[in-house]
Amino acid sequence: MGNYRIATIPGDGIGVDVTAEAVKVIDRVLPGVAWTTFDWSCENYLRTGAMMPADGVERLAGFDAIFLGAVGFPGVPDHVSLWGLLIPLRRAFGQYVNLRPVRLLPGTESALRDRTAADLDLLIVRENSEGEYSEIGGIHNPGRPDEFVLQESVFTRTGCERIIRYAFERAAERSGLLCSATKSNGLIHSMPYWDSVFERIAAEYPAVRTRQMHVDALAAEIVLHPDRLDVIVGSNLFGDILSDLAAAVTGGLGLAPSGNINPARDAPSMFEAVHGSAPDIAGLGIADPVAQILAGAMMLEHLGEHAAAAAIDRAVCDVLADGAVRTPDLGGSATTAELGTAVADRAAELSSDSATART
Ligand code: NAD
Ligand code: IPM
Ligand code: MN
Repeated sequence: MGNYRIATIPGDGIGVDVTAEAVKVIDRVLPGVAWTTFDWSCENYLRTGAMMPADGVERLAGFDAIFLGAVGFPGVPDHVSLWGLLIPLRRAFGQYVNLRPVRLLPGTESALRDRTAADLDLLIVRENSEGEYSEIGGIHNPGRPDEFVLQESVFTRTGCERIIRYAFERAAERSGLLCSATKSNGLIHSMPYWDSVFERIAAEYPAVRTRQMHVDALAAEIVLHPDRLDVIVGSNLFGDILSDLAAAVTGGLGLAPSGNINPARDAPSMFEAVHGSAPDIAGLGIADPVAQILAGAMMLEHLGEHAAAAAIDRAVCDVLADGAVRTPDLGGSATTAELGTAVADRAAELSSDSATART
């Protein structure tokens, strides 16, 4: 147990701080993980001219999983940093699912204050390899009055089918309710195609109740009636935007984890928070580590370490419910490390309790 080889890429800004806390928590519940840290980041880019070395993908390929902080920082344009590290890794390793659970955690104050945990428990299944995130396009007639830019979207049959089928499987395991994000009124080629794939695959899952909503209306539904939603499937861009919105509704970006999943398991999956490097609070030691800690729990769950994952999840809930140790985003004055330590201590307590119960 615990003899995993995990690559960490703490990255930039608060990514470094929250990753340290999450590693601390995992080490307490699953001793023996072999961590290898790669300092690939914007700082590395400024030093070497590359976000990661040319053989970066090869160097990561043999790990059991990748644990990533956040990438991107002022000083390096975002399209350079993200297309130099995060996005190529998602694609090279076939991580076509971006799984983003959104829950109202105990003791946290939702933007929707009268909602309870039962009302706000969503799973966003985001397409993670194509769609609106495409390199096809370019600027034409630059500098001239007739200058224009094209940015193409790519929706392949394979890409749509596999993510939609994955979402149906998750919905079948959970509440049997799946909502697809569309925008067929505005995007007249890609979204009617996405919808047709959704409808075809829906026929294979008669037990799953489906909804198809335009993404703008769905954004409003997440705020107004989150209780009427459970699993949500969306294209790369729609899933991205909806996941920040949904995280904010639960009480903040510091709480929402994310998994870049390779369902075939023929390459490492990669776990990270939904949030970014938060340059506005970087270096202050006050970032909320919960999202990254929960991403660590998702990673252990993916590796089959169900007890350790559950201990971390429960520890986060217990510490938040107790309320004594909170970072400023949750209305407290604790530091990143103080909250990380509180979760680590509680997680260690819970795992030793369950170890005792087994003997
Ligand atoms: P962001 O998620 O970094 O920050 C948005 C807001 O949320 C900020 O006010 C920030 O202080 C707050 N916030 C985020 N995480 C928090 C935490 N754990 N605790 C407390 N407050 C938190 O989004 P941004 O400012 O748009 O992006 C900053 C950089 O991060 C950009 O370079 C962006 O491209 C990059 N980014 C990277 C990833 C990733 O690597 N996974 C994800 C999103 C954004
Ligand atoms: C995320 C991020 C990334 C994305 C950016 C940084 C490219 O916002 O993981 O949500 O849009 O995929
Ligand atoms: Mn995002």
